[in-house]
Amino acid sequence: MTCKTGGNPINFYRQIKNISYMEAAKELGARLGIKVEDSRRSSKYDLEYEIMNKANDFFKFTLHNTKEGLKAKEYLIKRGLTEASINHFEIGLANNDYQSLSKMLVDQAYEPNLLITLGLSSRSEKNNELYDIFNNRITFPIKDETLNVIGFSGRTVDPKDNIKYMNSQETPLFKKSDVIYNLYDALDEIKKADEVILFEGFFDVISAHQIGYKNSVATMGTALTESQARLLRRHVKQVVVIYDGDNAGVIATHDAIPKLKKANLNVDIIRLPNGMDPDDYIKQNQLEGFKKYLELNRKDSYRYYYENLLLRLDTNNANSVQVFVRDVNLLFKDAPKVVMQMFEPEISQKLGFEFTFSKVEIPSKPLSEVKKAPKVQVLNKYSNAEYDLIFELLKRKKYLELIEESLIPNTYVILENYQVLERLVNYYQNKEFLILSDFMSRLPDNLVQHLENNMKKNFNWQNGIILEEKQVKNHLEVIHSYAEERELDALYNQMDPDNPEESLEILNQIKKLKQKMKKRRDR
Ligand code: UTP
Ligand code: MN
Repeated sequence: MTCKTGGNPINFYRQIKNISYMEAAKELGARLGIKVEDSRRSSKYDLEYEIMNKANDFFKFTLHNTKEGLKAKEYLIKRGLTEASINHFEIGLANNDYQSLSKMLVDQAYEPNLLITLGLSSRSEKNNELYDIFNNRITFPIKDETLNVIGFSGRTVDPKDNIKYMNSQETPLFKKSDVIYNLYDALDEIKKADEVILFEGFFDVISAHQIGYKNSVATMGTALTESQARLLRRHVKQVVVIYDGDNAGVIATHDAIPKLKKANLNVDIIRLPNGMDPDDYIKQNQLEGFKKYLELNRKDSYRYYYENLLLRLDTNNANSVQVFVRDVNLLFKDAPKVVMQMFEPEISQKLGFEFTFSKVEIPSKPLSEVKKAPKVQVLNKYSNAEYDLIFELLKRKKYLELIEESLIPNTYVILENYQVLERLVNYYQNKEFLILSDFMSRLPDNLVQHLENNMKKNFNWQNGIILEEKQVKNHLEVIHSYAEERELDALYNQMDPDNPEESLEILNQIKKLKQKMKKRRDR
């Protein structure tokens, strides 16, 4: 083994001995006659940290020293992890015995209630005993800026278990929406590289680390939050986003970009080949292939979106060109002048005429791309509102209540839209964030298809635009007016010039309905 772990002797020592950074520093210090102060022990959470670190040690011990641990380790090695990275990332195993961690900690006189608060144990209602939360799972410790363990994520080793990863609940230490996996362990490398690589998953980070991309971190699968974006910005200016190369990954990328930019980060994006995640790609193509792929496919966020727009441009179709010009103006609306100057010649060449950016107002709905029969266009007003609500709710929970209280079946033009919204509302009942892949995996095939088709078309989704409350209310209003408009249409159709008496009666109904509609609009 050579000393190539970043040149830091403590890290090196820690890896050979499979001990924590602090322990390594202390041991090394002792050898050299230096007393190493544990700077971590100065927080109001000392006790909590101590417990979490002990749990981590217990999981690591299990992985390296028990029969089931060795089996789990075999699985990791078969997946391509090296012994060194298993140690570096302090991967462990929560064993198959449902009480061993809780018992061990209680034996050491830690308060059972504190173990519950920390998300390590729960109490059985039947016999009042403590049970371990993590069982039969490979554990990934998650740390905060003090490098103490604050939570765990556990990957199942049981193929029959359909919860792939289980994360610590929210605890005083662990707020999932504020945490970025591996950020603090990678901080030196991030500073050195002057940029951070943002992945979705643990195995992506670890694979990248193994081939030398040690400035790697992950969001842990959920949609990136604004606070995670700000946290990154506190340490670095440049971020490279490499999410999974499936639809969910692309969508998550579109969701993350505006948040990263809002936090004032420079954002580059790598889109992987369809169906591959970074971990797969690295395993298949090794350092050489991965490096080359990054070189060839790294795009700034403007180019990334611009190329998406190009996919939909037909330079021979006047409508398509109009839509493209509108969208490209929107995309570069807040771009720095030099960025505009950089793209103008390229766009001009593409279009075959001199193009310069012009100011645009954001239209409330996209121009329709091709001329449609008037009736369809009228229907578009309603379905566009429906889609916008769906894509808003897919991005965040904010307007859940508003949308939920007005979710009435027969008011939706497109049945599938109602069905998706109903499922979205259910999904959020016990979750703060939506994991797109997770949500999609719960939908029947026809709804997945429906959503995927429309993701490509929805302007707000493609451009990461979120709605204001006013817009949401307006959309709901439009949606509700549909049922009434339909009723109105039907009534007008029933009017029969040959039957004036009946027509008068119908006219009366029309009048009443119109009054009702006006009253609701004025509310
Ligand atoms: P993936 O499903 O892409 O997992 O989710 P993965 O890392 O590729 O795992 P393997 O390769 O199948 O073992 C990406 C990340 O999303 C989070 C985890 O952090 C995971 O690494 N996740 C995923 C969850 O929190 N819960 C889940 O059920 C699934
Ligand atoms: Mn993955």
